[in-house]
Amino acid sequence: MALELRKMSGTFGVEVTGIDLAKGVSANEASLLQAALRDRLVMVIKNQNLSPKQYVDGIKVFGDPMHQHLAKLLMDEHPEIAVLDSRVANSKSADGKIMPIGSKDWHTDHTNHAKPPKMTVLYAVKLPKEGGDTGFANMQAAFSGLEEVEQSHLLSLKTVNVLEQNLSYVDDKTRQSLPPQKHPFIRTHPETGKKAIYVHPGKLAHFEGMSPSESKALLNSLLDRVLKPDITYRHKWSMGDLVIWDNRATLHVAHTDYDPSEGRILHRICLEGDVPA
Ligand SMILES: [Fe+2]
Repeated sequence: MALELRKMSGTFGVEVTGIDLAKGVSANEASLLQAALRDRLVMVIKNQNLSPKQYVDGIKVFGDPMHQHLAKLLMDEHPEIAVLDSRVANSKSADGKIMPIGSKDWHTDHTNHAKPPKMTVLYAVKLPKEGGDTGFANMQAAFSGLEEVEQSHLLSLKTVNVLEQNLSYVDDKTRQSLPPQKHPFIRTHPETGKKAIYVHPGKLAHFEGMSPSESKALLNSLLDRVLKPDITYRHKWSMGDLVIWDNRATLHVAHTDYDPSEGRILHRICLEGDVPA
């Protein structure tokens, strides 16, 4: 079966069939995959059947796995993988309700790191009967759609990022090792030079020089305007799907419209990134 690429929407996303990451890919296939992901920002690789080791090895075609701060969820024998099991990995909402893991707000990953992951990968191991989709937004398209005057204002902003307080799966040692990090709000992609809105609202303490409430108001009003259907894609998971996205250019969101006790299991790997610029 030959490698096939199919666009998933007008602005971004690409579906891949005809490869088996367990067997590895040729150098030619590797460069086709890397170029497609650079261009399309989100990639769904269909019909995979991967042991944890095959997953860790196979994903290296896109980069090197990095240590994740979800210390209590890392797989013993393969600590590159965080096991996101909705029966175990959860958090409590403000009213004390148990929530499946995964932010319900649009975000990019791990902005409280000096070098946040360039990409995140999820591999479906067990899925609920319905629900649990993952949404993606093309933040290069979001930024390029703004008026120039607003673009230049946003280009001057820096975010100050901290780890959220209510994450039960982060241990104290990990928490202490992660001081606040300052990043540009508009990030330039190191490979394509395209600019994107780059933010994790839950980890944003404030914009530099602004109060937390002013920062929240600015961010909410911007995201309300830009997160429109034309720049988003909603992925309905099938068993065997491996989804990888570029954190430097997209935001994602978890749909938590399923019963966490049913057990939804995704294996997550993050790939080493560089200092945002
Ligand atoms: Fe995330």
